[in-house]
Amino acid sequence: MTTTCNRRTALAMALAALAGPGTAGAVRASGKPTVEVWKSPTCGCCKEWITHMEAAGFHVRVHDSGNTTMRTRLGLPQRLGSCHTALVGGYVVEGHVPAQDVKRLLAEKPAALGLAVPGMPIGSPGMDGPEYGGRREPYEVLLVSGRGDAASTSVWRAVR
Ligand code: CU
Ligand code: CU
Repeated sequence: MTTTCNRRTALAMALAALAGPGTAGAVRASGKPTVEVWKSPTCGCCKEWITHMEAAGFHVRVHDSGNTTMRTRLGLPQRLGSCHTALVGGYVVEGHVPAQDVKRLLAEKPAALGLAVPGMPIGSPGMDGPEYGGRREPYEVLLVSGRGDAASTSVWRAVR
Protein backbone atom coordinates (compact mmCIF):
# COMPACT_ATOMS: atom_id res chain seq x y z
CA MET A 1 0.00 0.00 0.00
CA THR A 2 2.65 2.46 1.07
CA THR A 3 4.92 1.46 -1.79
CA THR A 4 2.13 1.94 -4.28
CA CYS A 5 1.27 5.36 -2.91
CA ASN A 6 4.92 6.37 -2.91
CA ARG A 7 5.28 5.14 -6.43
CA ARG A 8 2.29 7.12 -7.58
CA THR A 9 3.57 10.23 -5.89
CA ALA A 10 6.98 9.74 -7.47
CA LEU A 11 5.32 9.26 -10.83
CA ALA A 12 3.27 12.41 -10.47
CA MET A 13 6.36 14.34 -9.41
CA ALA A 14 8.40 13.00 -12.31
CA LEU A 15 5.67 13.96 -14.71
CA ALA A 16 5.20 17.37 -13.18
CA ALA A 17 8.93 17.98 -13.54
CA LEU A 18 8.75 16.80 -17.11
CA ALA A 19 5.71 18.79 -18.13
CA GLY A 20 6.30 21.92 -16.10
CA PRO A 21 4.41 23.37 -13.16
CA GLY A 22 0.69 23.13 -12.73
CA THR A 23 0.01 20.34 -15.19
CA ALA A 24 -0.05 16.69 -14.19
CA GLY A 25 -2.86 15.97 -11.81
CA ALA A 26 -3.52 19.61 -11.26
CA VAL A 27 -6.88 21.03 -10.41
CA ARG A 28 -7.32 24.44 -11.98
CA ALA A 29 -8.84 27.44 -10.28
CA SER A 30 -12.09 26.48 -11.99
CA GLY A 31 -12.08 23.23 -9.99
CA LYS A 32 -11.90 21.07 -13.09
CA PRO A 33 -9.37 18.23 -12.89
CA THR A 34 -6.78 18.41 -15.65
CA VAL A 35 -6.35 15.45 -17.99
CA GLU A 36 -3.10 15.43 -19.94
CA VAL A 37 -3.38 13.51 -23.19
CA TRP A 38 -0.64 12.21 -25.48
CA LYS A 39 -1.81 11.31 -28.99
CA SER A 40 -0.94 11.50 -32.64
CA PRO A 41 -1.89 14.82 -34.27
CA THR A 42 -4.03 13.00 -36.84
CA CYS A 43 -6.06 10.80 -34.47
CA GLY A 44 -9.74 11.60 -34.99
CA CYS A 45 -11.18 9.27 -32.35
CA CYS A 46 -8.76 10.77 -29.82
CA LYS A 47 -10.27 14.18 -30.49
CA GLU A 48 -13.74 12.68 -30.00
CA TRP A 49 -12.69 11.21 -26.65
CA ILE A 50 -11.28 14.58 -25.59
CA THR A 51 -14.62 16.21 -26.46
CA HIS A 52 -16.35 13.55 -24.33
CA MET A 53 -14.05 14.28 -21.38
CA GLU A 54 -14.51 18.04 -21.70
CA ALA A 55 -18.28 17.61 -21.83
CA ALA A 56 -17.99 15.61 -18.58
CA GLY A 57 -16.24 18.52 -16.85
CA PHE A 58 -12.55 17.77 -17.31
CA HIS A 59 -9.98 20.27 -18.49
CA VAL A 60 -7.83 18.62 -21.17
CA ARG A 61 -4.27 19.47 -22.11
CA VAL A 62 -3.14 17.87 -25.37
CA HIS A 63 0.32 16.77 -26.48
CA ASP A 64 0.36 15.89 -30.20
CA SER A 65 3.56 13.90 -29.87
CA GLY A 66 2.22 10.37 -30.18
CA ASN A 67 1.61 8.19 -27.12
CA THR A 68 4.03 5.26 -27.39
CA THR A 69 6.92 6.87 -25.56
CA MET A 70 4.75 8.26 -22.79
CA ARG A 71 2.86 4.97 -22.38
CA THR A 72 6.15 3.15 -21.85
CA ARG A 73 7.44 5.84 -19.51
CA LEU A 74 4.29 5.65 -17.42
CA GLY A 75 4.58 1.85 -17.13
CA LEU A 76 1.45 0.91 -19.02
CA PRO A 77 2.11 -2.35 -20.91
CA GLN A 78 1.97 -2.26 -24.70
CA ARG A 79 -0.49 -5.20 -24.72
CA LEU A 80 -3.06 -2.94 -23.02
CA GLY A 81 -2.38 -0.12 -25.46
CA SER A 82 -4.76 2.06 -27.39
CA CYS A 83 -4.61 5.22 -29.50
CA HIS A 84 -3.98 7.72 -26.69
CA THR A 85 -2.46 7.79 -23.22
CA ALA A 86 -3.58 10.18 -20.52
CA LEU A 87 -2.64 11.18 -17.00
CA VAL A 88 -5.09 12.53 -14.44
CA GLY A 89 -4.66 12.84 -10.70
CA GLY A 90 -1.48 10.75 -10.92
CA TYR A 91 -3.34 7.89 -12.66
CA VAL A 92 -2.71 6.60 -16.17
CA VAL A 93 -5.78 6.41 -18.41
CA GLU A 94 -5.20 4.45 -21.61
CA GLY A 95 -7.64 4.55 -24.51
CA HIS A 96 -11.37 5.19 -24.72
CA VAL A 97 -12.15 5.01 -21.00
CA PRO A 98 -15.57 6.53 -20.21
CA ALA A 99 -15.49 9.73 -18.15
CA GLN A 100 -17.71 8.15 -15.48
CA ASP A 101 -15.00 5.56 -14.78
CA VAL A 102 -12.32 8.24 -14.51
CA LYS A 103 -14.51 10.13 -12.04
CA ARG A 104 -15.04 6.99 -9.97
CA LEU A 105 -11.28 6.33 -10.07
CA LEU A 106 -10.54 9.82 -8.74
CA ALA A 107 -13.22 9.45 -6.06
CA GLU A 108 -12.23 5.97 -4.86
CA LYS A 109 -8.47 6.41 -5.29
CA PRO A 110 -7.53 2.72 -5.47
CA ALA A 111 -3.85 1.74 -5.15
CA ALA A 112 -3.29 1.20 -8.86
CA LEU A 113 -1.51 2.49 -11.93
CA GLY A 114 -4.76 3.45 -13.62
CA LEU A 115 -7.45 2.36 -16.08
CA ALA A 116 -7.24 0.98 -19.61
CA VAL A 117 -9.58 0.12 -22.44
CA PRO A 118 -7.23 -1.80 -24.77
CA GLY A 119 -7.74 -1.49 -28.50
CA MET A 120 -10.58 0.71 -29.68
CA PRO A 121 -13.94 -0.95 -29.03
CA ILE A 122 -16.76 0.38 -31.17
CA GLY A 123 -19.37 2.11 -29.04
CA SER A 124 -16.89 3.36 -26.41
CA PRO A 125 -16.71 7.16 -25.93
CA GLY A 126 -15.07 8.65 -29.03
CA MET A 127 -15.77 5.47 -31.00
CA ASP A 128 -19.51 6.14 -31.08
CA GLY A 129 -19.92 8.70 -33.88
CA PRO A 130 -22.46 8.50 -36.72
CA GLU A 131 -19.94 6.57 -38.84
CA TYR A 132 -20.46 3.54 -36.59
CA GLY A 133 -24.21 3.52 -37.18
CA GLY A 134 -25.08 2.87 -33.55
CA ARG A 135 -22.99 -0.32 -33.35
CA ARG A 136 -21.75 -1.30 -29.90
CA GLU A 137 -19.23 -3.94 -28.92
CA PRO A 138 -19.09 -5.15 -25.34
CA TYR A 139 -15.81 -4.17 -23.68
CA GLU A 140 -14.14 -4.05 -20.30
CA VAL A 141 -12.59 -1.14 -18.46
CA LEU A 142 -9.54 -2.64 -16.77
CA LEU A 143 -7.95 -1.55 -13.52
CA VAL A 144 -4.19 -1.87 -13.96
CA SER A 145 -1.96 -2.61 -11.00
CA GLY A 146 1.83 -2.71 -11.15
CA ARG A 147 3.95 -1.42 -13.98
CA GLY A 148 5.37 -2.74 -17.23
CA ASP A 149 6.05 -6.48 -17.24
CA ALA A 150 4.79 -6.75 -13.66
CA ALA A 151 1.42 -5.18 -14.44
CA SER A 152 -1.76 -7.12 -13.79
CA THR A 153 -5.37 -6.27 -14.51
CA SER A 154 -8.80 -6.76 -13.00
CA VAL A 155 -12.17 -5.80 -14.42
CA TRP A 156 -13.15 -2.37 -13.16
CA ARG A 157 -16.40 -2.33 -15.16
CA ALA A 158 -17.81 -4.49 -17.89
CA VAL A 159 -19.70 -2.44 -20.47
CA ARG A 160 -22.42 -4.32 -22.34
CU1 CU B 1 -9.13 5.81 -30.61
CU1 CU C 1 -7.32 8.02 -28.97
